[in-house]
Amino acid sequence: MREEEFSVTPWEVKGKVDYDRLIKEFGTDKIEEGLLTEIKKYTHDLHPLLKRKIFFSHRDLDWILAEYSKGVKFYLYTGRGPSGDVHLGHLVPWIFTKWLQDKFDVELWFQLTDDEKYLFEKKLGIRDAKKFARSNALDIIALGFDPEKTHIFSDIQLSGLLYPQALKVAKRVNFSTTKAIFGFNEQSNIGQIFFTSMQAVPAFLPSALAEKNIPCLIPHAIDQDPHFRLARDVLPKLGYLKPAAIHCKFFPGLKEGGKMSASKREDAIFTTDSKADVKKKISNAFTGGATSIKEQRTKGGNPDKCSIFQYYCYLFEWDDEKLQTIRNECKGGSLLCGECKKRLIERVEKFLEDHQRKREEAKDLLDKYLVEHSKKIFELYDK
Ligand code: TYM
Repeated sequence: MREEEFSVTPWEVKGKVDYDRLIKEFGTDKIEEGLLTEIKKYTHDLHPLLKRKIFFSHRDLDWILAEYSKGVKFYLYTGRGPSGDVHLGHLVPWIFTKWLQDKFDVELWFQLTDDEKYLFEKKLGIRDAKKFARSNALDIIALGFDPEKTHIFSDIQLSGLLYPQALKVAKRVNFSTTKAIFGFNEQSNIGQIFFTSMQAVPAFLPSALAEKNIPCLIPHAIDQDPHFRLARDVLPKLGYLKPAAIHCKFFPGLKEGGKMSASKREDAIFTTDSKADVKKKISNAFTGGATSIKEQRTKGGNPDKCSIFQYYCYLFEWDDEKLQTIRNECKGGSLLCGECKKRLIERVEKFLEDHQRKREEAKDLLDKYLVEHSKKIFELYDK
């Protein structure tokens, strides 16, 4: 693949992503300063992920805010494809979703697409996918979403409720559209072709249940956009609103270029990793620094190429001044890669220690968050 080539699909990201080009290709809108000012009217401050343009693109977020200003509340919808352990990259949209839930005091529907992972991962059995759905739910709960307002569900477990809604979507999408959007071919299994209808359902399920239209905002990394491009096309045909969305860039892996991906275990840090794993992975990470200490001291490092610096930007240094200091000291040659990695190892270890404790505690909270039977949903809408 040539340097300027890249591809982003919900199942694979290849090459060095040019996000401005992606905005054009996907037909989304860039988050401009005016929109940030508008968000701030309601949130009073801006999350670092917004300030740093890590959340960089959207669809109809301005409309969601305009409705909110008129007293029309939206709900949040996001998800996870449970094919294995959760890595730090997945946490980026979820941490931001929690911030949105806190600031706007809204409901969150969290979809676990165990059906998708069974259909798309050759070696994954249904039982494994269901098992990961439950274990990934612990990571989600550990982030502290409001238990009264958060509904986590697995597609397989809740299929009785979701399937009739998915059928309505499926009937309005033909094979050539899914081929064009997702790149399916004659060898794709037929479950894969159907699956996008399941991911569309939570974008209108609360409206279907409440029997009135409720605006929906979906935070996610830009790879999932093809699903919602399709949903935005179909939902108005069913009498529902187009879902709005806010998109983030990819938290990088520990090697040069590329997103953090579960398939590259050595490049990714998982929430279940031990201290020894963290130390080993970060110590071996790509920094783009000079080959000798002497050279690094005189020429300085290159934070824009360095995966370690990206870790500080995305999750591990949310104080802007302190981040700037790291950047300056790296460029000036006073902060060497070894020391910078050591500091990051400490932060990641501390983060994981907290997260793993909360993850354990979440085992007692599963019932509060998980919607395993449609009865619970109907109760919700009777209140
Ligand atoms: P999944 O499990 O691949 O990813 C879960 C969420 O994490 C985002 N993501 C990343 N964000 C930042 N940096 C990365 N390196 C990174 N890798 C993944 C994904 O964009 C996603 O937001 N089909 C979906 C599950 C799903 C979903 C949804 C996601 C169902 N409904 C609604 C978002 C919104 C999936 O397999 O996600």
